[in-house]
Amino acid sequence: MEQLLEDVRVLDLTHVWYGPWCTLMLAEMGADVIKIEPPWGSLGRLSQRGPMYGGASPTFHHLNLNKKDIAFDMKNEKGKKIFNQLVEKSDVVVTNFVPGTMERLGIGYEDLKKIKPDIIYAALSGFGETGPYTKRPSYAMIAESLAGFTRQQGDNVDPDGPPYTMTGAFGDLAPGTMAAMAIIAALRYRDKTGKGQKIDVAQLDTMFAYNVNTTTYFVSGKDEATRRIEQDAFRKNIINIGGIHPVKDGHIFLMGFRAKGMEKLKQVLDVDEVTKEMVLDLIKDMTRQEASDFFADIGLPCSMINYASESTSDPHLLARGMVIDMNHPLLGDYKAVNFPIKFSETPGVVHSPAPLLGEHNELILKEYLGYSDEEIQELYKTGVISQRLT
Ligand SMILES: CC(C)(COP(=O)(O)OP(=O)(O)OC[C@H]1O[C@@H](n2cnc3c(N)ncnc32)[C@H](O)[C@@H]1OP(=O)(O)O)[C@@H](O)C(=O)NCCC(=O)NCCS
Repeated sequence: MEQLLEDVRVLDLTHVWYGPWCTLMLAEMGADVIKIEPPWGSLGRLSQRGPMYGGASPTFHHLNLNKKDIAFDMKNEKGKKIFNQLVEKSDVVVTNFVPGTMERLGIGYEDLKKIKPDIIYAALSGFGETGPYTKRPSYAMIAESLAGFTRQQGDNVDPDGPPYTMTGAFGDLAPGTMAAMAIIAALRYRDKTGKGQKIDVAQLDTMFAYNVNTTTYFVSGKDEATRRIEQDAFRKNIINIGGIHPVKDGHIFLMGFRAKGMEKLKQVLDVDEVTKEMVLDLIKDMTRQEASDFFADIGLPCSMINYASESTSDPHLLARGMVIDMNHPLLGDYKAVNFPIKFSETPGVVHSPAPLLGEHNELILKEYLGYSDEEIQELYKTGVISQRLT
């Protein structure tokens, strides 16, 4: 089946969450993504949250679907040669090391441009390639905290209480998605003009922009105290009947933002104005399912508040094909998460599980670069390349 990015080859030097998420987007839209790991394996193979299975973290299994894998030592001259040979045959290079790491390896943008002038080089980092924080290491929570999210998360519970970490690593996934979008735009520009370029994506810049209404509000000159007063009024007057509400078997999330739905609710309750108390009373003996079905019928946005484990059997998600059957050499049959976007002509496809370390060494060295069996054996013997298939 034809794939959107099937003629695009990506060299994926990314190692944990943010970068692998970016290259996953490209791989799921059909790009040939070659994951390059050090011989000892990348950081993302280790578990950051939760247990390991099939020799890797759950994150690794998800973020590396559809990718090929080659493991070589780029600090070794022969390893660097392999990388440079691959650059000649590729369109995009993506990294999420601290700025300066690629240059120390002798494979920064200026070096790679000499090998492939139209290369698109995406440097993903915590703080970007310029500015006072540039050399600092980072993780999602660092960008979330600096951009205001962690404090705001706490404010949602109690403005006078402590800050709370956001769940879900959005400080990785949001900039990773932006990076994938930027790479595709740069490919379009290259195809039009023949020119490659460097893309500098900072987690902090992206998270600052992603904190949409809050950042915009404050850059307009307002202060925190004014915001708290206005936010309070907003909660009381506009959110009105919405929010997290208790029901018989847990909680639901209701949004009162829909004129048609609110009119219908007034009719059902036979009142001119609906209060939060009326809503709470109406749903107190309902289950989550009953309450969310009730509001869905009325036309108000509402959901059950699920455990993530419950969402994996949600009938709508299953009907949309979001959970797929996969087979992994160490895990056997297992379920994986599908690409979330539907294209009518060129559907995204998940065709292979996350690769084992160096699983495609031979394929890439022989078929892409023309190495002989003897040369490959020599690379194994001298520790330039490695493989772990069990
Ligand atoms: C995530 C992070 C903190 C991890 O730190 P780290 O693993 O020490 O990463 P660094 O970029 O500092 O260094 C990677 C090292 O591996 C080496 N390396 C990577 N691939 C290699 C390969 N194939 N062969 C040999 N060495 C390799 C690099 O040369 C570098 O070595 P050096 O420290 O001697 O220069 C850091 O990479 C970072 O801040 N990245 C930017 C923000 C980010 O993406 N954060 C993660 C979001 S989840």
